[in-house]
Amino acid sequence: MTAGSINVLLVGCGKMGGALLQRWQAQNLCKSVHVVEPHPQGLSVPEVTDVAALPADFAPDVIVMAVKPQILPEVVGDYKAFTDKGCLLLSIAAGKPISFFEEYLGDSAAIVRVMPNTPAAIGQGITVATANKNASDRQKEDATALLSAVGEVLWVDDEEKLNPVTALSGSGPAYVFLLIEAMTQAGVHIGLEPDMAAKLARQTVIGSAALAKQSAEVPASTLRENVTSPGGTTAAALAVLMAEPGMQDLFNRALAAATKRAEELSK
Ligand SMILES: NC(=O)c1ccc[n+]([C@@H]2O[C@H](COP(=O)([O-])OP(=O)(O)OC[C@H]3O[C@@H](n4cnc5c(N)ncnc54)[C@H](OP(=O)(O)O)[C@@H]3O)[C@@H](O)[C@H]2O)c1
Repeated sequence: MTAGSINVLLVGCGKMGGALLQRWQAQNLCKSVHVVEPHPQGLSVPEVTDVAALPADFAPDVIVMAVKPQILPEVVGDYKAFTDKGCLLLSIAAGKPISFFEEYLGDSAAIVRVMPNTPAAIGQGITVATANKNASDRQKEDATALLSAVGEVLWVDDEEKLNPVTALSGSGPAYVFLLIEAMTQAGVHIGLEPDMAAKLARQTVIGSAALAKQSAEVPASTLRENVTSPGGTTAAALAVLMAEPGMQDLFNRALAAATKRAEELSK
C-alpha cells in the first residue's frame, strides 16, 4: 500500500501521537485518520473519546497505539476486533514487548513495535522498528511510511535490540541536552556570563549537529580531528575528555545502565 492510501486509527494524541498526526497531515500521508482520545482536542480529523464510539463499519489498516505504557493493560484488548480482521497494531510504547500485545490480541495479531525519540516532534527523529512474524511486507511498508513522517526509520529482526536502541537513541536526546548544560556550567566556571555561556553552548551543539548532518559520510572522529590543531586549545581540552577513564567510560556505563533499566521495564 502506498503513502496516501493508509487508513489510520490513532489511539492517544499526546506529545508523540500529536507530532505524528501533525506530520501525516502536513504530508497528506493517510487516506483517513481517526483519533481516540479521552479529552477531545478540536482536531481537524474525526475524534472520539472511546473506541466504542467509532463507526460500526470502520476498518483501519493500522492502529497506532500512542498512550502511556502504564495504561496499555486497560486499553489494548479493546482493539482486538480490529486486529482480528487483519489490522496492524503499531506500538510506540517504551518497554512494552510484542509478547505483551500478543497476550491481549492473540498470537495471530500483526504487531510492530517501535522506539522513536523526541526530535520526532520536528521531523528529525530516528525510529527503530521490529515486527512479529504476522506482519506482512505491505504492513511493514505502511509502518515505514507512517514513521518516516517524523524522521529516519531502521528495522531490526531481533526485538532484544530494542533495549540498547532505547538506551542510545531513545534516551539520547537527554544526553545531548546534558552536554549543553555541562558546557554552559564549564563556560561560567572559566569566567563567562551565564547567559553568554548558555548561548554559546547551545548554538555550538546546534551548529555542530547541522555540520554532522551535512557531512553525513564523514566519520565523527574526522569531524573532531578537523577542529583539532596539534598542540592547540582543542587538543588541550580533548586530552582531558579522552583520558582514561574519561568520557568514553562514562558513556559506556551510562548506556549499560539504561539498557539494564529497559530490560527490567520490558519484563
Ligand atoms: N515523549 C517521548 O519522548 C517518547 C519517546 C519514545 C516513546 N514514547 C512513547 O509514546 C507514548 C506516548 O507518550 P507521550 O509522551 O506522547 O504521552 P502523552 O503526551 O501523555 O500522550 C498520551 C495520550 O494518550 C491519551 N490517553 C489516555 N488514555 C487514553 C485512552 N484510554 N485511549 C486513548 N488515549 C488515551 C492521553 O490523554 P490524557 O492526557 O487526557 O490522559 C494523552 O493525550 C508512550 O507509550 C511513550 O512510551 C514517548
